[in-house]
Amino acid sequence: MSNYENIIVTGGCGFIGSNFVHYVVREHPGVHVTVLDKLTYAGNPKNIAGLPADRVELVVGDVCDAELLDELVPGHDAVVHYAAESHNDNSITDPEPFVRTNVYGTFRLLEACRRYDVRYHHVSTDEVYGDLALDDPARFTEETPYRPSSPYSSSKAASDMLVRAWARTYGLRATISNCSNNYGPYQHVEKFIPRQVTNILCGVRPRLYGDGLNVRDWIHTEDHSRAVWTILTRGRIGETYLVGADGERSNIDVLRAILRVMGKAKDDFDWVRDRPGHDRRYAIDPTKLRRELGWEPVHTDFESGLEQTIQWYADHEPWWRPVKAATEAKYAAQGQ
Ligand code: NAD
Ligand code: DAU
Repeated sequence: MSNYENIIVTGGCGFIGSNFVHYVVREHPGVHVTVLDKLTYAGNPKNIAGLPADRVELVVGDVCDAELLDELVPGHDAVVHYAAESHNDNSITDPEPFVRTNVYGTFRLLEACRRYDVRYHHVSTDEVYGDLALDDPARFTEETPYRPSSPYSSSKAASDMLVRAWARTYGLRATISNCSNNYGPYQHVEKFIPRQVTNILCGVRPRLYGDGLNVRDWIHTEDHSRAVWTILTRGRIGETYLVGADGERSNIDVLRAILRVMGKAKDDFDWVRDRPGHDRRYAIDPTKLRRELGWEPVHTDFESGLEQTIQWYADHEPWWRPVKAATEAKYAAQGQ
């Protein structure tokens, strides 16, 4: 039992937000979740369908809507803010919704939480720290200076700065988590792993950007959910915690693992145009979260987590099929 019995989860119909809602319903029986989600192209109410109606309520709305927040936020114990425009490639094509939702939307939520004295947890990304060289032994820590590269990561960095300012200036009871690349069920087919898996399921060759040597630090989304819950309930107010599971892998290694599991030859993919400004490597040092709050990842075997994720996409074609063609049309227009 925690002090949080009645929470708002923004973006709870997206990939990580919906996994968090499933986690809370499963692991914390006393907690009611109000999902606030605009249902953009990335939000799908099916992601939380079937959860008990007395535990989860969906409010379709925009985090930028101050009047709606004035109605919704009072009386809740906490806001966990996942809602965002989340895809780097989209932010390069059209940055405007990123600034609006990620920066202005966060500002509106902070104002609502300040007005009604509601605990606030901000879900952010390791991309705010920029990138590391492939041969650099360093990993990101909570002390690493901000150096975002893309419109997406700079909008997330701006939102983190707002949270820090609201905590310091107004005493808002806020925490921030910066997590590395998540994988698992319900991830939109625009993202790397689901895109390649669904391409293969469609009989299309996977697509690898640049030289394929870029490194991402993979974590199963369930481990991220438990980290966010741990920080929400036991984290020190005003603090930032980095979340990662020692999962560094190059893109070409991940792609070859997917090809292997799906019975394809190791070179059965196409090289495509690189992402402009493509970050080379992300790597998280999660020591603070582990030592201070005792969090440990459970999904430490990436290959088996990847196999389960591939199986999930194979079993859930009706979930991804309706958005696959439009997603690929967008990539084709970008030469990717
Ligand atoms: P996603 O794109 O899958 O989902 C985003 C959700 O937010 C969708 O349901 C969408 O409808 C909703 N949304 C967008 N704009 C909104 C608005 N104005 N008002 C209300 N709802 C809105 O994103 P994701 O990958 O699940 O990421 C969730 C959060 O976690 C983001 O804040 C992201 O920056 C962060 N994060 C993601 C990763 C990752 O690997 N995907 C890693 C670290 C942090
Ligand atoms: O690090 C955390 C971030 O991880 C989150 O903040 C973002 O919301 C999330 O989208 C993710 O960002 P990335 O840009 O790392 O993820 P993406 O899935 O888009 O790409 C992962 C890597 O794979 C990246 O190096 C680009 C590459 N890639 C991607 C696609 C879609 C390819 O090589 N081919 C592809 O088709």
